[in-house]
Amino acid sequence: MRYPEELIEEVRSKNNIVDVISGYVRLQKKGSSYFGLCPFHNEKSPSFSVSGQKQMFYCFGCGASGNVYTFLMKYENATFQEAIKTLADRAGVKLPELEYTPEMKKAASEKALLLEINKEAAKYFYYSLRQEKGKIGYDYFKSRELTDNTMKSWGLGFASKSSNELVKYLRSKGYTDEMIIKAGLASRDEKFGTHDKFWNRVMFPIQDINHRVIGFGGRVMGDGEPKYLNSPETPVFDKSRNLFGLNFARSSKKNYIILCEGYMDVISMHQAGFTEAVASLGTAFTSGQSSILKRFTDTVILSYDSDGAGTKAALRAIEILKEAGMTSKVLDLKPYKDPDEFIKNMGQDAFQERIDNARNSFYFEIDILARDYNQNDPEEKTKFHKAIAKKLCAFADDIERNNYLEAISREYQIPAEGLRKMVMSVINQTGLAEPLRPRAKSGIQEKKTAEDGNLMAQRILITWISEEPEIYSRIREYISEKDFTEELYGKIAKCVIDGINDSSFEPASLLSQFEEEEEQSAVARLFNTKITGLDGIPIEMDSKQDRERVLKDIVLKVKENSYEYYSRNLGSDVNALNEVIQGKKILEKLRKTNIELDR
Ligand code: UTP
Ligand code: MN
Repeated sequence: MRYPEELIEEVRSKNNIVDVISGYVRLQKKGSSYFGLCPFHNEKSPSFSVSGQKQMFYCFGCGASGNVYTFLMKYENATFQEAIKTLADRAGVKLPELEYTPEMKKAASEKALLLEINKEAAKYFYYSLRQEKGKIGYDYFKSRELTDNTMKSWGLGFASKSSNELVKYLRSKGYTDEMIIKAGLASRDEKFGTHDKFWNRVMFPIQDINHRVIGFGGRVMGDGEPKYLNSPETPVFDKSRNLFGLNFARSSKKNYIILCEGYMDVISMHQAGFTEAVASLGTAFTSGQSSILKRFTDTVILSYDSDGAGTKAALRAIEILKEAGMTSKVLDLKPYKDPDEFIKNMGQDAFQERIDNARNSFYFEIDILARDYNQNDPEEKTKFHKAIAKKLCAFADDIERNNYLEAISREYQIPAEGLRKMVMSVINQTGLAEPLRPRAKSGIQEKKTAEDGNLMAQRILITWISEEPEIYSRIREYISEKDFTEELYGKIAKCVIDGINDSSFEPASLLSQFEEEEEQSAVARLFNTKITGLDGIPIEMDSKQDRERVLKDIVLKVKENSYEYYSRNLGSDVNALNEVIQGKKILEKLRKTNIELDR
C-alpha cells in the first residue's frame, strides 16, 4: 500500500532539499554545502549540513540524517504519507487517491475522529473550569499557585460533579457512544449505561508533540481514590511513546531534559521558567520514551520521589537511558518531596542550583547499593566493595573508570589501590561490559576497534564513491558490492554501483526505498561518513598524491577485510571459495599497483 516508486521520486526531485529546509532552519552556504543549527538537538555552533548535490541533510553533532522526506518526518513527527502529501502540495504534484483497504481507511478515519473527540472534550473541560460549577477547580489551581496564564497555556480544565455532562455534550456534537467510549472518555455498564469516566476532577489534557490532545489526566478534588485518573490507552494514546510537556519542552534551549513523575510538577517547573521538564504518563518510563527524548537531548535529569517506589523507578529509568546511550543525573530535592513543593518553598534560584549540582546517576546507584550492606560488618563491607568494583566495570574507558573509582573511594573511604585490584580481578574473570557508546580507544577494546575500522573503511568508500562517482572507474577492477561485508552496506553498495553503471545514481532517491526512519538514518550515515585516513584523521583533499594514497589504503582495507571474511566463511558460504581465490589475486595486484586519479 504505497505510492508508486516513480511518483515518490518525482515529488522528491521537485522539492529541492535546500529550499525546503530553509523554511525551517537558517542555512548558510559553506563550501559546497549549507550549514545551520541542528533542529534535532541543542547546539550553539552549526553542525547541521544540507547538501544540494546529494539532496540530503546530515548533522555532524547528533547524526540525524536523511533526505527531504526524512527531514519532514522527523521535524514534524509526521508519517511518510503525511510528508509526501506536504511535499506534493508544495511542488504542485497531484497525488492519486491511494487504494486503501477498507480496514486501513477505517483505522485512519477512526484515529482522526478520536483526536477530534479528545479536542472537543478538552474544550468542554476548559470551558467548565471557567463556569460557576467549575469554581472549585479554579480555586484549587489557584491554591496551588498557578497563574491564569499557566492554566490557559496548558489548557487546564474541570470535569464537574453533575452526571454525564460530557457524554451529553459529545452526543450533541454528533459523536456516537461507541466512539466516546473508544476515546476513553466514558464507560458503559448495565446500571448506568454510557457514563462519564471523569467527574469531580481538575483535568490535565495530555498533548502529543504536535500539541494534539490525545488523552487526559484528572486529579480528584479532595481525598478520593485514585488521586489521579488517566485516560486508558486508545488508538491515539500510546503511553509508552508520549511524554507530558514534551510539546513545550522540545523547544527549550537547555541541553538537558528534566524527567519527573507528576503533571503538577511539570507545570510548576515550566511556570518557574524550567521549560525543559517532562513527565511520564502515570506509567513507568519506557525505552520508547527514551528514544523520543534522544532526539532532543543526550542528558536527562531525573526527579523522582525519594521513597522506595520512586527510587526503584529511578534506577530502572537510569538503566533505560543508559541503554539508549544517554547520560542521566539525579536531582536531590531534600527535604522536599517533589519539584512543585521545592520551588514553592525555595524558589527558582535554589532550584537551578540543585539542577547545577545534580549528581551523575552512577553515584546515585552506589548510594542506593550502600543501603543493602551493613558497613560495620567487615564481611558485608567487603561484599559492598566488590559490588562497587563490579559496577565500575561498566565503564569501558580506562580514564573514565579511574576517575569514578577515585571519586567513589574518596567518598566511601575505600583505599583506591585495593578497589583498583578488585576491579582488575573482576575484569579478568568476566571482562568489561560492552561499551554502550563509542568511547576513547583503550587497549582492552582492540578487538572491537578492528571491527569498527573495517566498517568505517566501507562507509568511507561508499561516501567517497557517492560524492565522486568518477573514482569508481579507477577501482572497479578491485571492488564489487560483495566486498561490503555488512549486510546493509552490501545492499547499498549494489544500488550505488548499479546506479553508476547505468548513470542513474542518486543517493537521496535510494533513501526513499527505506521506510523506517532508523533504516533511513543508517543509510544516510553511509553517504555522509567523513572522508579520513584509516587513523580517522581528516586528509588534505587538495593534493592528488594524498588522495590517491588514501584511496588505495581504504580500498586495500576493504578488500583485506572481505578476503578474511570469505576465508572465515569457506565452510558455510557457497560464494566464498570464488571470492577467496579472486580476492587473493586482486590483493596481490593491488598491493603492487597505484590507483591513479585525475585530480
Ligand atoms: P503523585 O502522587 O506523586 O502526585 O503522583 P503529585 O504529582 O505530587 O500530585 P499532587 O501534587 O498531590 O497533585 C505523580 C504522578 O503519578 C501518576 C500521575 O501521573 C501523577 O502526576 N499517578 C499518581 C497516577 O497515575 N495515579 C495516581 O493515583 C497517583
Ligand atoms: Mn506534588
